[in-house]
Amino acid sequence: IPIENYRIFSIVAHIDHGKSTLSDRLLEITGVITKEAKNEQVLDKLEVERSRGITIKAQNCSMLYKDKFLLQLIDTPGHVDFRDEVRRAVFAVDGAILLVDASKGVQAQTVANFKMAKESTVTLIPAINKIDLPNSEVDRVEKQIIQELGFEKNEIIKISSKTGLNIQEQLLPAIIESIPSPSGNTNGPFRGLLIDSWYDSYQGVILLIRVLDGFIKEGDKIVSGQTRKKYEVKKVGIMYPNETPTGTLTTGQVGYIIPGMKNVKDALLGDTLFHLGQESKAKLLPGFKETKPMVFVGAFPADGIDHKIIEDDINRLILNDRSVELHRETSNALGQGWRLGFLGSLHATVFKERLEKEYGSRLIICQPSVPYLIKYIDDKDQLIKNPSEFPNSTSRRTTRIKTIQEPYVEVLTSIPTEYVGCVIQLIENNRGEQKELNYLNTEDQAIIKYYLPLAELVDDFFGKLKSLTRGYATLDYDDAGYKDADVVKLELLVNGKSLDALSKVVHRSQVQKVGKEWVKNFREYLRSQLYEVVIQAKYDGKVIARETIKARKKDVLAKLHASDVSRRKKLLAKQKEGKKQLKSIGNIQIPQDAYQAFLRK
Ligand code: GTP
Repeated sequence: IPIENYRIFSIVAHIDHGKSTLSDRLLEITGVITKEAKNEQVLDKLEVERSRGITIKAQNCSMLYKDKFLLQLIDTPGHVDFRDEVRRAVFAVDGAILLVDASKGVQAQTVANFKMAKESTVTLIPAINKIDLPNSEVDRVEKQIIQELGFEKNEIIKISSKTGLNIQEQLLPAIIESIPSPSGNTNGPFRGLLIDSWYDSYQGVILLIRVLDGFIKEGDKIVSGQTRKKYEVKKVGIMYPNETPTGTLTTGQVGYIIPGMKNVKDALLGDTLFHLGQESKAKLLPGFKETKPMVFVGAFPADGIDHKIIEDDINRLILNDRSVELHRETSNALGQGWRLGFLGSLHATVFKERLEKEYGSRLIICQPSVPYLIKYIDDKDQLIKNPSEFPNSTSRRTTRIKTIQEPYVEVLTSIPTEYVGCVIQLIENNRGEQKELNYLNTEDQAIIKYYLPLAELVDDFFGKLKSLTRGYATLDYDDAGYKDADVVKLELLVNGKSLDALSKVVHRSQVQKVGKEWVKNFREYLRSQLYEVVIQAKYDGKVIARETIKARKKDVLAKLHASDVSRRKKLLAKQKEGKKQLKSIGNIQIPQDAYQAFLRK
């Protein structure tokens, strides 16, 4: 197939607008998968992706169309936390299908994806999906696409990814006609763009690349433009839909290589790969910036669980997720554990779910937190990723802190107009600041742009927004830097000892409310204790809430007949066993269930 007949494209859409379903249909029409695989969404491989119905990891597939076109699809994740992966995919393709749900219309992420694609100058094909739905509003959505995004009526394609309607007849021809074929110097020195990477337990690190110039084959020696590390290419092939060896990849092809790379962290997305010795002849592409984790979660092994074994498990789990950061951490209450960093709150939730699913009660997982930037008088900066390291008021004075800043995000929210009032209220209640309010020309939808502290977003802001708008609101966000913040560390104390792993940085205006809730909740889970327990919430040296639990001796033998000796022994043994499960803090012992229940709440 000549390079003129290659097409490299992506599908971008708001979450749930049908990207994965459309990918399946394209794969089916081009014969990569059979009809039996229908609606299975073969590109969504991870189990969590299937169970939550969302795409997390971008996947790729090559298709042969009409025996003469090579269509190369780069799938993108749909959730906002993974926008950097979408951005990378958009930079690696020549065109993209912008999919809009006919029953929902233009949403926050549609606008964000549209802007991203415009910045990178890829060709966009607008398509209205789900036109088979009885509640679809094709005309209204068409009007939105024309008025809000500036497309022409005749550019818009109306499809059903579910039934396949108009995909073969209109969408595929549009891909061939509007998206340009790849350019590149077929005879030049090899240059490859690293698009994605993943870890395979048998083959090691696999890289997804787009060949920009020249070609690559098995046995070639290559070098990374960014890290300067050298590799020998063991295998080369295309994704069809899984790894299928071809031995070579030529200019304009997207495929995988297995370079014998030890660590996924060496695979820098956006890196340029060269043939060894030719790196000076070809130009290095501007590298993409690596995504930084913004949400941190503490995790600790439950009693009796081997720290080393579970650490190996977690390391295996993050092999396929470059963006997760892992550090060891020690807590007085929960022992040795880890602090994990994630891209955003969904990323953290999905990972937490995987840990819970796979490790069950073996892990205690703490509340998510965001990083805080401490600026000192002598112009030094320090990023605090763990609330227990956050300075209290005394150390603030002695260490000459100038300001403390917290991360903000710029949020786009799309809502039906009737909810504008209450959503603005919600934004204000969460320390947000409204920037723009636009009514779409169709007049029933509004888009609000606002700044919000990331800490509020992480604290289930989206959940609150959804329930307030009966599920109608959609949200997209991007980093907006750090801003001064009046925040303090709130601690939970049991008999005078701080439970460090539960500490949280909160805004001064919320400290009273959260403190009261904390002591009340913790009291509930600590009910039957052998000694008196004082639970306190404290910040800046002040106790702001307190609960006391009176000592209560639990007599397990009370109901038993005195002569029932063997049963008595059994019960006493059981009580002894139960005690082992407790960890002591101060002079009292706290069952791990209490932490688990408290954290779940
Ligand atoms: P993410 O990967 O999480 O971004 O979602 P997605 O955009 O890939 O959406 P997905 O393909 O998972 O589709 C979301 C839901 O819409 C699924 O229940 C699909 O079955 C359904 N769906 C997709 N396309 C159509 C369509 O054309 N018609 C109808 N009726 N349903 C559709």
